[in-house]
Amino acid sequence: MSLSKLARPKVNLFLHVTGKRDDGYHLLESLVCFPCGGDQIEVSAADQITASVSGPFSALLGTPDENLVVKAAKLLKTHFNITAGAHIHLEKNLPVASGIGGGSSNAAVCLQLLCELWNVTPSPEVMSDIALQLGADVPVCLAAKPALMTGIGEQVTPVAVLPDLHILLVNPLVAVSTPEVFKAINWSSLPAYDGYEDVGTNADGLMAKLLKTSNHLQAPAISLLPEIATVLKLIEEQPNCLLSRMSGSGATCFGLFSSEGEAAFAQQRILDIRPDWWGMSAAINGEAES
Ligand code: C5P
Repeated sequence: MSLSKLARPKVNLFLHVTGKRDDGYHLLESLVCFPCGGDQIEVSAADQITASVSGPFSALLGTPDENLVVKAAKLLKTHFNITAGAHIHLEKNLPVASGIGGGSSNAAVCLQLLCELWNVTPSPEVMSDIALQLGADVPVCLAAKPALMTGIGEQVTPVAVLPDLHILLVNPLVAVSTPEVFKAINWSSLPAYDGYEDVGTNADGLMAKLLKTSNHLQAPAISLLPEIATVLKLIEEQPNCLLSRMSGSGATCFGLFSSEGEAAFAQQRILDIRPDWWGMSAAINGEAES
């Protein structure tokens, strides 16, 4: 028996850093969406927990045994005293360490597939606890639906389906370190913000809200990797781009567009100029399951 599912990228439409905990983790408020596309995870029955990788970015991963999907499998196995193992295959189509939660999304999907394979049904609270042990972004990747993240990312409030916009993701294929980006925050320069309210499916309403927000990690990430500013500018210059911003701790940046054609056109233009970069475009309300 084998089961497979798409692990979609997580894009932070805005990301505000609201404080810092004593353990060094940062308090956030972030609106996230999960465009359709991404990595593919397949699990199959086996005696031991093993993993293999393929895909355009697989060479940049560490050894399969160190991958977050294996840590996810081991945690779930221990929690439920499972005797069986599983083979996990990860097709890595998304750039690694790139601010779009690839590893977190992989871990979340792996947990879900293994629950099915091993026939266990954790409560949503237990599942979220296990997910959080794997990373602050993993709980929100379980539902993989638009949500507001608060706390260190573990408090997830679903948001009504977002307007039907299209997103272009562009990554210069240079990794930035998340802890280093958090360390580079200039606290005195963070703009004030009065909280996000759900705008339903109104595109103009969402854009008006988003334009009052920002990604507080963008300036610190640019200070570490100035090329991010070049990516943002190139996206912003594309016809009909509604907003150009960085996701997570970078270096992936996104552009929002009203139509699929506009996002795809912008992707083609940018990759024609920079064939050494990575890009994908998709609806922001990706719903496909596999
Ligand atoms: O939880 P995760 O492994 O994804 O986080 C990677 C690093 O990012 C953490 O070790 C921490 O330095 C930083 N981080 C943070 N505050 C968060 C999430 C991540 O400081 N809310």
